[in-house]
Amino acid sequence: VFSHVARAPEDPILGVTVAYNKDSSPVKLNLGVGAYRTEEGKPLVLNVVRKAEQQLVNNRSRVKEYLPIVGLAEFNKLSAKLIFGVDSPCIRDNRVTTVQCLSGTGSLRVGGEFLTRHYHQRIIYIPVPTWGNHPKVFTLAGLSVKSYRYYDPITRGLDFKGLLEDLDSAPSGAIVLLHACAHNPTGVDPSIQQWEQIRQMIRSKGLLPFFDSAYQGFASGNLDKDAQSVRMFVADGGECIVAQSFAKNMGLYGERVGALSIVCKTADVAGKVESQLKLVIRPMYSNPPIHGASIVAAILRDRTLYDEWTIELKAMADRIISMRHQLFNALRDRDTPGDWSHIIKQIGMFTFTGLNVRQVSFMTREYHIYMTADGRISMAGLSSSTVSHLADAIHAAVTH
Ligand code: LMR
Repeated sequence: VFSHVARAPEDPILGVTVAYNKDSSPVKLNLGVGAYRTEEGKPLVLNVVRKAEQQLVNNRSRVKEYLPIVGLAEFNKLSAKLIFGVDSPCIRDNRVTTVQCLSGTGSLRVGGEFLTRHYHQRIIYIPVPTWGNHPKVFTLAGLSVKSYRYYDPITRGLDFKGLLEDLDSAPSGAIVLLHACAHNPTGVDPSIQQWEQIRQMIRSKGLLPFFDSAYQGFASGNLDKDAQSVRMFVADGGECIVAQSFAKNMGLYGERVGALSIVCKTADVAGKVESQLKLVIRPMYSNPPIHGASIVAAILRDRTLYDEWTIELKAMADRIISMRHQLFNALRDRDTPGDWSHIIKQIGMFTFTGLNVRQVSFMTREYHIYMTADGRISMAGLSSSTVSHLADAIHAAVTH
């Protein structure tokens, strides 16, 4: 009965790892998925995470009961404080509901389905380009996906004029997906002044902002600074939605821990919204897993662990910045044709190199370097010992 099933293509991002794993070359390099690696090229479990896990193991009274549908209450409270700020008006007024979801993707999906069921406008605008999973998540959640201009390949910066024009012509009430910081895949963020103009446009047109916050702490190395865009939208008293991930900033990728927050106008509305979120979640996966959320809660509640976390987070962000400089210098040393200054200007985990599909497949074929077809490289996968190999490959790709 299943013989008619056609083989589906691999995922454009996670499929890069599948191809990488099949390669037996000793010099192979995976710069596809956005996952942090150490200088030795190894995945990193943060020390604070190990400490928090030890606490959990030592606590004999811990049980493995089901969490409530909305997840671990303390995790939800602390996650909201992390993104909105400890004295955020939405927390003070109790007009935000935060529910634990399966990392960023799960939060986007639950938020999308809630909007399909309860919001009058089904159109969501996503930036071009954006994370490859965004259109699929929102389409399957029942929304109709449209796009707004974001990146200008000529300047390798923000197409701010195009962005404002597209938002200005969006139908009233349309949802707008915004990357809170460290835009994936481009590494190009609006300045604070530009965010303020975007906010004014969104509010004056009655659009609904939906933030994807997957990299808090990775853009500037400062958690509060990286949440500024979101906080501007909360400060004006209007509604907004935030999907939060702890995959990158706590290195909890496989624990699938994240949160969806819906900021409402009143506490009463927030309570009703939460009751409906439960109806979205229960038939989907019942309730979220307990382990990752317990780790996050243990770190966020404890001043000492929290401070240690910020230091480790900053160290990850700094190593990525250092890789940017090393790659830029290596290309300069090779006199590689082209302006590569965007490598040091872009922020967050990725460099949007500007390399085309043909050049990317050349680098994979000849140099065993794996990256997404759009030319994005995960700087977090690079180390001092692999920079020269990458620079040789880029040089060959643009000159051969
Ligand atoms: C990425 O963009 O590489 C990450 O967000 C991982 C993923 O799930 O795609």
